[in-house]
Amino acid sequence: MRSLIRGSGFTLRPHAKAHKSSGLTAWQLQASTAAGEPTTNFCAQTVGEVAALLKGGCSNVLLTNSLPDFAATRLGELAASHPTATVSALVDCPEHVAALEKGAQAAGVRLGAFVEIECGQKRCGCPAASDTAVRLAKAIVASEVLEWGGLHVYHGAIQHVRSAEERQKEVEAGPAAAARSTVARLEAEGIATPCVTGGGTGTLLQDLAAGTHNECQPGSYLFMDADYAGNEDSAEKGFVQSLYVHTTVVSADVAAGRRVVDAGAKSCDFVCGPPKPTSLTDPALAETLRGVTFKSGGDEHGVLHDVPEGVLPIGSTIALVPSHCDPTVNLHDYLVGVRDGQVETLWEIDARGPG
Ligand SMILES: Cc1ncc(COP(=O)(O)O)c(C=O)c1O
Repeated sequence: MRSLIRGSGFTLRPHAKAHKSSGLTAWQLQASTAAGEPTTNFCAQTVGEVAALLKGGCSNVLLTNSLPDFAATRLGELAASHPTATVSALVDCPEHVAALEKGAQAAGVRLGAFVEIECGQKRCGCPAASDTAVRLAKAIVASEVLEWGGLHVYHGAIQHVRSAEERQKEVEAGPAAAARSTVARLEAEGIATPCVTGGGTGTLLQDLAAGTHNECQPGSYLFMDADYAGNEDSAEKGFVQSLYVHTTVVSADVAAGRRVVDAGAKSCDFVCGPPKPTSLTDPALAETLRGVTFKSGGDEHGVLHDVPEGVLPIGSTIALVPSHCDPTVNLHDYLVGVRDGQVETLWEIDARGPG
């Protein structure tokens, strides 16, 4: 990721919503420092993830979400307990500004605030170049306890547009156009935008080409998943699958070509489809498993169909490539770091859960 971004004028602000782990944050900090390009700024999507990032040693966290006031109070408390760190969040309405101000005042800290701009996903954000965006930016600039961070312009739904060419068009029509017009409107109102942040693993190259942002927030690149593998240019970027769920064959109907494994909806998230079975230790089995389909067997079971006779006896293990890494990680307590078949480390997924 660093080598793709190097020289582009963008700053890397990795998203921790995929791993939710203070240990893996510390590893990212160490690895980037050892490479001579320390990554100090990170993103979180929940207040719990902010806590994990601060625990892992991160000195600048942007919560890429807006908060109700009780959560903004907790954010202020976290900032107060890490006085050297910069902690920021998003706003798209006056209520968010008031909540952040209240949280900052109660904890005696300053919090950063970015205005979120809606750019096509129809989720959060105020309209691009709107009076609301100007009013919010002015309120932040005028605030005694908030720090004006800039704009957050992110479109999640276009990360998985399969063709790179189509994705480039979506970036131009969505986040790039929204960022451009809002920066220009703010400038006309006398407000300089210090940072435009957004983008993920899928649109990375397209965001760099559009050049409207100066910070990118990819998260999934650490793990990858079956959904990202479906993007046509996925392999070109050089990110490889590193996240697997290991599962054991617990029952079989060999005549029907079925095997049952002990991984269901409590082990893998199915919203983006079923996981893909593979083997990390046996290339021939991995090849065979390309022709096998995984179907959900309920909460604790998965059913493999079209399994040839003579493979996968009861007790054998396989690996599953999750269809979507973030919600799959969120189901587990630990990430087990394996190198050359040896367990090297355990990272607790200490920010797992909704909040
Ligand atoms: C606001 C925001 N930024 C960045 C990302 C990271 O995207 P990805 O995991 O696709 O790299 C996400 C993912 O959902 C997100 O919601």
